[in-house]
Amino acid sequence: MAGPAAPTGEGWSSRTAFILAAVGAAVGLGNIWRFPTLAGENGGGAFVLVYISCIILIGLPMVLSEVLIGRHGRSDAFHSVVKVAEDSNVSKNWGIFGGIGILNAFLILTFYSVVAGWVMYYVGVMSVDLVGAIFSGDPFAGALASENPETIPSRMTDLFGNIPLLLGMHTLFMVVSIWIVARGVTDGIEKAATYLMPTFFVLLVLITLYGAFTGEFAKALSFLFTPDFSKLSPAVVNDALGQALFSMSVASAALITYGGYVSRETNLAPTAGMIAFADTGVALLAGLMIFPIVFAVGLDVAAGPTLVFQSLPIAFHNMPAGSLVGLLFFVLIFFAALTSSISLLEGVVAWAMRRFEWGRGFTAWLVGGVIFLIGIACALSLNVWSDIRPLGFIPLFEDKNIFDAIDDLVSKILLPVTAFLTAVFIGWRADKKLVKEETGLEGAMFGLWRFLIAWLAPLAVAMIFVFAVFPNLI
Ligand code: PHE
Repeated sequence: MAGPAAPTGEGWSSRTAFILAAVGAAVGLGNIWRFPTLAGENGGGAFVLVYISCIILIGLPMVLSEVLIGRHGRSDAFHSVVKVAEDSNVSKNWGIFGGIGILNAFLILTFYSVVAGWVMYYVGVMSVDLVGAIFSGDPFAGALASENPETIPSRMTDLFGNIPLLLGMHTLFMVVSIWIVARGVTDGIEKAATYLMPTFFVLLVLITLYGAFTGEFAKALSFLFTPDFSKLSPAVVNDALGQALFSMSVASAALITYGGYVSRETNLAPTAGMIAFADTGVALLAGLMIFPIVFAVGLDVAAGPTLVFQSLPIAFHNMPAGSLVGLLFFVLIFFAALTSSISLLEGVVAWAMRRFEWGRGFTAWLVGGVIFLIGIACALSLNVWSDIRPLGFIPLFEDKNIFDAIDDLVSKILLPVTAFLTAVFIGWRADKKLVKEETGLEGAMFGLWRFLIAWLAPLAVAMIFVFAVFPNLI
């Protein structure tokens, strides 16, 4: 039942390489910036519980479904779905959800790169600060030691007010991402993941230990793991679902595309389990890394998207060796963002290479260039275009600027719709024997996975989605 070789003949050099790349795709700004932000805004424990349920019941079965589609189709997200549909004797129109997944990746990267640009800016600020601290003879000083803590948050407003800097950072991040993808699967994506991911994990553990020893660890634990159900609403559950899908990189081409480079010998089910486990583990550890520090200096956990960029630098200001730890913290986020952005770009590039029969280098620079241009609009919506409401005619998006409109359109609408179609396709339309062989699952485990993907995932996604979009129904 082997499909034709991947169109480009490219593939991972080992199972470990695939796992590192896929975990790199999953672990990103979603885990370290968005998850703590949402958990903080939505009251902690209850959100975390719903989030973990979404991961286990929907995210994990979806990861396996997508990787299997990719490995069977051995192509990009669109053509791989078409191949599975053909081999299952069902309509090739199912390829549409693969296509929407590619669109999702395209849209996500437009704003993802802007946020990653902020991260790069903070890497710069913190590096300068640490060098200054070393030269003044106190390498273990707090971050931005000479500054008044009240003015530290203005670093971010300064950045937003400085168009050349804002666009410069976005440009730099896109150029690095495109350069890696242009180098190819083994020499670019795999190599980047092999260096960046292990370093990322070491930094994560070190900074979490630092927070545990110097911050309010017990308070963070109880905030993240004691649920207060009065905080739950359909909108919060939809947020948790959208975040679970976003964080696992499902419904957005990346996993199908990476699955296309996996060898036939790799056993997919345990591999999917490892990806889900690593991604969730990192999100929770990120919470345990950030909240003890935030609590230690009495900052607001519900600060929103600025939590990481405005609140944490104040915390690092007040903590021992904050200058050094602050730098390591932003380097860690940068590594996570980079391995994710290359997976987003690869999801689109792999499709365009095949669709238009272009070479990899040309496609990467062209596709990346178009994403870069739309990203400029996202960046400017923090500045001169802050009043533009691109989807203002839709009630749900009335008050959203370009950046937020794209983010919400993807995470609240397109991701759930794509996830729903993927689950229905794999659960109901794809050939059962083909699917079973690809997953490598046997007996009860196969039955359980199939129940989740055929029944639970589509029903849960549809219900959560309908209640969140039409809150008046209940
Ligand atoms: N999962 C990544 C994150 O958490 C983002 C991403 C989404 C990457 C979709 C690839 C595909 O940051």
